[in-house]
Order: sequence, then structure tokens, then C-alpha cells
Amino acid sequence: MTMSQQGTTEQRSLAHWAEPRRAGMEAFYALAIEDYREMVAAREWAADLRGHADHGRVRVLDVACGSGKFPAELVRQGLAGAVGDLRVELDLLDPSPFSIREARSVLRPPLVAAAEHEVRLQDLPAAVGGFDAAWATHALYAAPPDQIGAGVARMHAALRPGGFGAIVHATTASHYLRFAEAFAATFAPDAVPFTSADQVTDALTAAGAAPRATTIRYQVGNGERAVVEGFLQRCVFDDSVSLDRMETVGPVGDYLAECRVSGDYRFDQEVDVITWEVPA
Ligand SMILES: C[S@@+](CC[C@H](N)C(=O)[O-])C[C@H]1O[C@@H](n2cnc3c(N)ncnc32)[C@H](O)[C@@H]1O
Repeated sequence: MTMSQQGTTEQRSLAHWAEPRRAGMEAFYALAIEDYREMVAAREWAADLRGHADHGRVRVLDVACGSGKFPAELVRQGLAGAVGDLRVELDLLDPSPFSIREARSVLRPPLVAAAEHEVRLQDLPAAVGGFDAAWATHALYAAPPDQIGAGVARMHAALRPGGFGAIVHATTASHYLRFAEAFAATFAPDAVPFTSADQVTDALTAAGAAPRATTIRYQVGNGERAVVEGFLQRCVFDDSVSLDRMETVGPVGDYLAECRVSGDYRFDQEVDVITWEVPA
């Protein structure tokens, strides 16, 4: 049996990045915080920032800033010591005012909040640009596949000559995309699919960038059913289906059976760290 979800994936994402859904966001990050630990450890982000600085400061566009888990984790893993006296100015971009407020509230030196852009990436005004760096971390899944090209092109165009871009995004082999696909096949056949890392890379190439990707793989897991249920519901921006029910029907039940190990859940993540440099 299937049922349809309310609104497109993008509309459900925006409805969930709001104060009334804070508990769901926190349930999600009980597991998803591992994404940020892994991606920060996977690269010398401090060297990227130092290498693209201008007169002691670097201007960064944080695309789809969410609640600021990436900048918070950069600081937790020692960014301040690694960049010395560099000032890192973050412009926060997100269509959700809740997300912008949350991200701003977690910034600590050397990260300093600069301008705010309450807009979808694909709608960012052309006058906003000249950034030394721009990043989007686990950020663009809900941008519809037919608009990801416009969004990524806008991000590329917002960089100055010699600027640095990074998009960290799950592949089709990751839990995020496999679960979303299985959930949609079972409960929401009309759902707009999540955008994949390959689609992001293709969109960057089409925009004239020369992206390079490295792939990281890890597991996130937990034995507590309430934690797993909260994580899974937020993965698809749909808290109407219980874990009990997901486990017993259709492709999503088959997928979850694959992820159960001795009573615990273990979800495989495969994530591309996609970077590019704009020619000087
Ligand atoms: C999972 S969060 C991103 C996590 C974030 N990078 C961090 O460090 O915590 C996803 C964010 O993407 C935003 N978003 C959704 N569609 C978007 C779009 N088309 N353009 C920009 N942001 C979008 C949502 O509002 C949400 O705040």
C-alpha cells in the first residue's frame, strides 16, 4: 500500500527547517553528526582557507548553511590553531531563516558571520559574488534534479578568479539516497528524488568547472529504536511512518533488513568530497 506525501521534496525540506521541527532535527543529528566528523577529518580545510586568503582574511559563501554543523566541527577539530590569525568571514545562504539563525549562533573564532542570504541557491542574485571560497556540505539533496544545474552554476559564478569551491554530497550508494529511494517506492511514489553526487559533479562540469572528487566511506549506527526512527524520518522529511511500519512493508522493509546487524542498525555512507579551483 502506498500513500502520497504533502508537497515536493523541496517544500517538505523547507517545512522541516523550522523551529517547530527542532526536535526532529536534533534526533537526526544524533547519528548524522558523524557526517561532519568524517568530512572535516577527510581534508586539510585550513590549508584550503589559507591558500585562498587575501590580506589576512578569506570570504566564504556557506551554501545551504543549515544549522552550522560543518563550521562548528571545523572549530571543534582545531581550525583556530591551524589558520593562525586568519579571519574567516562566512556569508550564510539558506532559504530557511531558522537555519540562518542556528548557523550564526554556533560560529566561533576564527569564523565570523558576515552577510545573510535568505534565498535558494538557484535564486541568489547575480550581484552577490567575488568570494574566495564557497562550500555546500550535505546541502543540496532537496534542490530538484532539474534545478541543480542552475544552482551549482550560480555557486561557481559566485567565486572570484582563483577561488575555491567544495561540495560534500552523498552518492547513490549511500544510505541517504538508497533509503530515500526505497521509502519513496513504498510510501511516496510521486516524491521528487534526491539529487546525487554524480548529478552535482556533472552539473559543475556543465557550468565550466573542473571538479575533482574523493570518496569517503563510513557507517553510522545505533541500537536504540527511538533514535533510529527519528533519524530515518528526518532523512526523508516525513515523520508520519513509524519504524515498526517501515520494517514490515515493501522495498523500505527490504532495505532496512539489510542494515540490521545483531539487533542494531548500521547504515553505510558513501560521500564524495568534490572540489574545484576557478582559474586565476
Ligand atoms: C542538512 S542542511 C545542510 C547542513 C549544513 N551544511 C551544516 O553544516 O549543518 C540542509 C539545508 O539546505 C537548505 N536548502 C534546501 N534547499 C535549498 C536550496 N535550493 N538552496 C539552498 N539551500 C537549500 C535547507 O533549508 C537546510 O537548511
